[in-house]
Amino acid sequence: MRRGVGSIKRNRWLLCFTGVLASVQAMMLARASLAQSAADGAGVYASNCAACHQLNGQGVAGVFPPLAGHVPTLLARPSGRDYLIRVVLFGLTDTITINGQNYSGAMPPWVSLGDASLAAVLNHVAIGWDQRQRLPADFKPFRPDEIAAARVEKLAASDVHAMRKTLLPAAQTPAENAAATRRVTYTAEQAAQGKSSYVRNCADCHGSTLDNGEFGGAPLRGAWFDNKWGNSSVANLYAFTKAKMPPDRPGALSDKVYADLVAYILSVNGYKAGEQALPEDPKAQQPLSLKRQ
Ligand code: HEC
Ligand code: HEC
Repeated sequence: MRRGVGSIKRNRWLLCFTGVLASVQAMMLARASLAQSAADGAGVYASNCAACHQLNGQGVAGVFPPLAGHVPTLLARPSGRDYLIRVVLFGLTDTITINGQNYSGAMPPWVSLGDASLAAVLNHVAIGWDQRQRLPADFKPFRPDEIAAARVEKLAASDVHAMRKTLLPAAQTPAENAAATRRVTYTAEQAAQGKSSYVRNCADCHGSTLDNGEFGGAPLRGAWFDNKWGNSSVANLYAFTKAKMPPDRPGALSDKVYADLVAYILSVNGYKAGEQALPEDPKAQQPLSLKRQ
């Protein structure tokens, strides 16, 4: 009898021990796969996000929001996880406020990236930059199947903005929009150089007159362009172009060439050339408005 109890106890203890071992193992596995996913995500981030949010995740004040130090705040909200998945899939427009700073740009959608890449990049912006300690205790790595499930919703960037409004308290809602206020500048020389880069790199898709492209390139002039960019700043147009174009090798051209290309697109849209060159630095681009004066 005594022996029986003893061995049951021993067995229980053993069982318990193997149970703990298994859960430690599972935890280590989960950690390892999270670390792996976040490492893959760092690559996705460098090629698709860093042009705007910067490699260190700090963004550019007033132009591109910071992600470092900020993503854990979003994840701490009840539907923060769902929101993050939809931001990267469908993009975001309209004004948001982070730490009292307004951002009124446009985050492009990334539906073109696969489920595994998007899960990985979300894991990177969640645990990268030493943020692991700041994540909610119950944080679970983003999984490709979650991205696949959300993908079918096909939301508009404005729907995602509506979702964000329910996420953060009213105090974070901006009172006023710190919009770009200065007239855009570029030189005739930039536009001329931009034209020759355009013919080499862009005309196949966007066309010789910027609105007669063949391979699905959006019109880069006229009403379409005005609707999309007319309330925006040079910083957003430049960053979008550098982050996304040309589609087979985004960001592959130099900053100078991207500035020339934007100058050319602006010249075709009737913006006037002047003495001051269109700058390459996002901070200097932010005050430059694309509003028709
Ligand atoms: C062309 C510039 C650009 C690129 C490239 C870009 N973003 Fe953004 N992102 C923005 C802007 C601008 C906003 C703010 C949009 C607004 O004001 O409505 C934003 C917002 C966000 C937000 C929401 C922040 C919040 O507080 O709601 C997240 C998350 C985000 N981006 C992640 C990413 C990830 C991940 C990538 C790469 C896959 C990426 N972004 C690529 C410009 C960009
Ligand atoms: C392989 C075809 C292709 C090439 C080459 C290409 N684009 Fe695009 N471009 C597109 C497509 C498709 C879109 C719309 C999809 C999107 O917004 O991502 C687009 C959108 C744009 C937009 C945003 C227009 C809008 O209102 O949505 C700009 C600006 C732009 N391209 C500039 C350029 C520049 C500058 C180059 C040359 C460096 C270039 N593109 C090369 C296919 C192309």
